[in-house]
Amino acid sequence: MNSRASAVAVEAKGWLSSEEGMALYRLASEAVGPVVEIGSYCGKSTVYLAAGAAENGTLVVAVDHHRGNPEMRFGSDCHDPDVIDPFLDAHDTLLHLRRTIRQAGLEEHVMIVAAPSEVAAGYWSNPIGMLFIDGDHSYDGCHRDYAAWAPNIAGGGMLVFHDATIPDIGRVTTEAAADGFVMVDDVGCMRIMRRP
Ligand SMILES: C[S@@+](CC[C@H](N)C(=O)[O-])C[C@H]1O[C@@H](n2cnc3c(N)ncnc32)[C@H](O)[C@@H]1O
Repeated sequence: MNSRASAVAVEAKGWLSSEEGMALYRLASEAVGPVVEIGSYCGKSTVYLAAGAAENGTLVVAVDHHRGNPEMRFGSDCHDPDVIDPFLDAHDTLLHLRRTIRQAGLEEHVMIVAAPSEVAAGYWSNPIGMLFIDGDHSYDGCHRDYAAWAPNIAGGGMLVFHDATIPDIGRVTTEAAADGFVMVDDVGCMRIMRRP
């Protein structure tokens, strides 16, 4: 990963560790097709994924409605006043994402989709080389993202969950295993699976 992208990823807002980020970079650099990311926030994970996708001649489809998760609301632990747009008086991370990607020099390797995951999935039918799920952390939200996007993962494609130590997300990884995805590794709180 080049030093410019690496420095931007480390500085970007977000909860991903450098070890998790580098694992995303390596997986994206070997993915068998485009990378789909559910939950881009300010672009930390997007930069790691896009740096790998760039080396692989593909891109990242970065899906996020940019309105945040319930745990990011005012008064919550994860609330960050810097991501409140003063004009909208609402959580909005879209401009943060665009700045992060541009600073990393990766604009050509990211297609931003500013929409709810479940809406975007309805317009997607292409094979996916790698699906990274880091959106809504409730069981219903994570299950919905998995059910909407995972059927498009190609043979040999990767399925990666962040925050899989949260029981509701762990439950979805168990369902993915029952559907035939094989657990290949875990890095930090990420679970890495592959479609045989
Ligand atoms: C934990 S943050 C993602 C962090 C990011 N992957 C990183 O490493 O920096 C979760 C993101 O998911 C987005 N999100 C939550 N529910 C969503 C949904 N139904 N559709 C699209 N995005 C959603 C939120 O807006 C938020 O930006």
